[in-house]
Amino acid sequence: MNLKEKIADYPNFPKKGILFRDFSPVLKDPSALSHIADEFSKHFHPKDIDVFAGIESRGFILASILASRYNKGMVMIRKAGKLPGKTTKLAYTIEYGKDTIEIQKDIIKEGERVLICDDLLATGGTAKASAKLIEKVGGEIVGFAFIIELVDLNGIKGLNKYNCKSLVKY
Ligand code: PRP
Ligand code: HPA
Repeated sequence: MNLKEKIADYPNFPKKGILFRDFSPVLKDPSALSHIADEFSKHFHPKDIDVFAGIESRGFILASILASRYNKGMVMIRKAGKLPGKTTKLAYTIEYGKDTIEIQKDIIKEGERVLICDDLLATGGTAKASAKLIEKVGGEIVGFAFIIELVDLNGIKGLNKYNCKSLVKY
């Protein structure tokens, strides 16, 4: 299956000069969803993974698809202020300013092996911060799964010590 054919391009969204790659049509197609799970299954072995972590919000979708296929659970890495109970936070810099992500404090057990999922890798700032957050709470990173990678932004550079797999590159 050619996933790229199902990704829609929106010039000048959400700002002028940005070409937005939209995976909505991929999600609508059940055969594309199973194709995504098949492709990651070739790359990451179930015995190496304890849990999937999804990055808010579109990363939740991929993490859930894979957790279901691998018969494992998933946890949420959220933008700050949305998770109940005790949480661990991590602040990181984005293009203009700062952002903070968080995770529930005891949702990851010490040494649990986590595969981090997001729909898209751009500058890599979010992914790198997510890895730091998982490590801060005692998790071990198995790798990263992305549906789309925007190669020109070179986000992969900051993740070179991790096993990263993306399905569609631009
Ligand atoms: C997008 C995308 C990644 C991140 C990639 O999320 O889903 O999480 O940006 O950018 P980076 O590699 O430059 O850090 P967004 O913040 O738009 O959130 P959303 O999934 O809730 O739309
Ligand atoms: N598509 C979807 N999400 C994004 C993009 C994009 O092109 N760039 C940064 N986040």
